[in-house]
Amino acid sequence: MRMSVIGCGYLGAVHAAAMASIGHDVVGIDVDEQKVAALAGGIAPFFEPQLDELLREGLDSGRLRFSTDMAESADAAVHFLAVGTPQVAGGHAADLRFVDAAIEALLPHLRPGHVVAGKSTVPVGTAARLAGSIAESGAVLVWNPEFLREGWAVHDTITPDRLVVGIPPTDAGDAAAELLREAYAPAIAAGAPFLVTDLATAELVKGAANAFLATKISFINAMAEIAEASGADVTLLADALGHDTRIGRRYLGSGIGFGGGCLPKDIRAFAARAEELGRGEAVGFLREVDGINLRRRDRAVQLVVDALGGLVFGKRIAVLGAAFKPFSDDIRDSPALDVAVRLRGLGADVVVTDPAALPNAAAAHPQLGYAVERDDALRDADAVVVVTEWDLYRREMSPEHAGALVAGRVIVDGRNCLDADAWRAAGWSYHGMGRR
Ligand code: UDX
Repeated sequence: MRMSVIGCGYLGAVHAAAMASIGHDVVGIDVDEQKVAALAGGIAPFFEPQLDELLREGLDSGRLRFSTDMAESADAAVHFLAVGTPQVAGGHAADLRFVDAAIEALLPHLRPGHVVAGKSTVPVGTAARLAGSIAESGAVLVWNPEFLREGWAVHDTITPDRLVVGIPPTDAGDAAAELLREAYAPAIAAGAPFLVTDLATAELVKGAANAFLATKISFINAMAEIAEASGADVTLLADALGHDTRIGRRYLGSGIGFGGGCLPKDIRAFAARAEELGRGEAVGFLREVDGINLRRRDRAVQLVVDALGGLVFGKRIAVLGAAFKPFSDDIRDSPALDVAVRLRGLGADVVVTDPAALPNAAAAHPQLGYAVERDDALRDADAVVVVTEWDLYRREMSPEHAGALVAGRVIVDGRNCLDADAWRAAGWSYHGMGRR
């Protein structure tokens, strides 16, 4: 099937390459010339496991190309819309200007029978607003939200755990759903449920899923606060809760909380849209979810200050991690980097290291110290803070090895990812988050 993917960021670039890999003929369109040049050269403009290989395969097969020219999308049967929807400056709502600009640029190229499939995360009601102008061209708008996780984006796109398509209540809507069923045939054959809904429900599924995940993380971090006050251990608590199959252990990872380009801004946009709909009260708890999440960063900084006897000024602190999570170079709203910045603000001599995100971190925060190698960050440190649970810190760093490099054996585990007993046994003063 011929398709275009409009917007080639984390979502679109992966979607384009994945669709080509399952046999479709795909053109990826983006306004950013540098990004298009990189992608056309087989290089992902960001760190995403397996993406480079998939790009090269697609380009070599002739089924994948990239362009800045929207006219290149003209012969596609399906146009996937994958542009970003960031938080508006000075507010909590989603900024839809990239969505609106993409649709405006696409409109002259739409033909009767074309399907525009929105994948971007948008406030409920957006599709209904856009549907009219698209229908005038004879094309039909459907909403097909994307649930991929960074770091697992290729896997999640090729083998999604479900596919959701919101359609208008017309024959053209039914035909569009069938076309998408064909587009995703391999995933459906592999067992992915294909759910057809109305437009508003499809838009809501994405917002609701992110709100639920964020709430689950903040729930366990709220329990961490209680554990801190009562002498309990939140990681044991999470294990015990997780064995209840109604609850499950995933997304009960306690620590410095969630960040990234999706969960924080999506829960804020979700709450802002609920306010507009006169139902702000229904999701008032999301303000608490956000608040609990941000408090964990304060708590991590306080733990470091306490661990160093009340003063970090002039102390050398190795910060292990900058990305908002492992297998990513994304530093958007990264709690890891936020902790580093705050420690620097208190006068600490902060040295940040990360296997993927250092260039992004250094560009955004030139005031911090950086070390490419983990061991260079550890050398002579008065304290070590683990803020992104890369294997390089979690599995491949022994307390003995690190102990030989540092000036002081003080470690703060901002992700509760280390074996506290092993570190204590090696003479370290170990501080977890919500752990005894
Ligand atoms: C998320 C959703 O998972 C995905 O479905 C959606 O499409 C986009 O937003 P992503 O932002 O890539 O994906 O990251 P995710 O793996 O969900 O992690 C989000 C944040 O939560 C990270 O900062 C991570 O460290 C944190 N997290 C996750 C926890 O603090 N504890 C957990 O148990 C899980």
